[in-house]
Amino acid sequence: MSTHDLNHEALAAEALARIGAANNAEALHAAEREFLGKSGVVASLLAQIPSLPPADRGAAGKAANQIKGRLQAAIDERAAWLETQAIESDRQGLGFDPTLPPPRIDMGGLHPITQVTRELEDLFASMGYHILDGPEVERDYYNFEALNIPADHPARDSQDTFYCKGDHPLVLRTHTSPVQVRAMERLKPPFRAVAPGKVFRQESTDASHEHTFHQMEGLVVAKDVSVGHLIGAMKTLLAGIFGKQVEVRLRPGYFPFVEPGFELDARCPFCQTGCSVCKRSTWIELLPCGLVHPAVLRAGGIDPEEWSGFAFGLGLSRLVMLRYGIDDVRHLLSGDLRFLEQF
Ligand code: PHE
Repeated sequence: MSTHDLNHEALAAEALARIGAANNAEALHAAEREFLGKSGVVASLLAQIPSLPPADRGAAGKAANQIKGRLQAAIDERAAWLETQAIESDRQGLGFDPTLPPPRIDMGGLHPITQVTRELEDLFASMGYHILDGPEVERDYYNFEALNIPADHPARDSQDTFYCKGDHPLVLRTHTSPVQVRAMERLKPPFRAVAPGKVFRQESTDASHEHTFHQMEGLVVAKDVSVGHLIGAMKTLLAGIFGKQVEVRLRPGYFPFVEPGFELDARCPFCQTGCSVCKRSTWIELLPCGLVHPAVLRAGGIDPEEWSGFAFGLGLSRLVMLRYGIDDVRHLLSGDLRFLEQF
């Protein structure tokens, strides 16, 4: 062992002792600077090499680099140890309190329209109805033509339609009734089906008008269907929705795809003598309905001589508003958490 090696050993021992004694990150950094820094001890060892006799230079370089590696490893190890120590003492001291509540987790919930839709789907499924879906961007044919509303029919004016640009006549469906025709094309009579979904109207919005809202279409096709069947089905529906028997009445209503067509009113389920919901009349206008027009059955590929049916268009948005006492339809799709968090 040369004096050179001895010097190196002594240097390494001193450095390792300093590193091992560093009790915090600052002390460790200071040691690192002193031994491994730009103008540190190891750097000056390396700087001396060119002034050594050429024969010694290789060994001196090796020795210096070996020390550098050892010191670096010791520093890394010490740094890791200091870190676990810090966490440990945090845990034992005031830095960590195992009795603190965890960070708040925000829970999502189902939108009231989804809740009511699912409830009604369960109710209808239990009565043997199919649950159907239809496109929101619909062909003019299904939204109007097949529903006995030809191009020049005045009923189109009242539908405030969003038309799509393009070669094919597409619209944002203005009601869920197009699913009636799609259902007839696909299902063999007799059948019952409901189709919940979004519909769109190009209207100026206010507390009771929204460009996008929800309906649930109902369609029953069977032999010898009468208005009596329609009323019976609607009473079952209302009993399911309001949890009690509700008196209903029919007023005539015009829709090209039903004949006869009706507006069905229900006795206000919230009062006996008149309230703000029923505008003191004890009746609330609930849903349009009627017997399916023969032209619509025919469009759906069903022989009106053999089959008949009834249809209804439940305003889901309106029903949700009634149920929860919501006074402005625009809340429903606002996405406002202050509104949504209440459900
Ligand atoms: N589709 C009609 C509308 O939204 C409602 C309706 C449905 C009427 C079914 C009668 C039968 O305007």
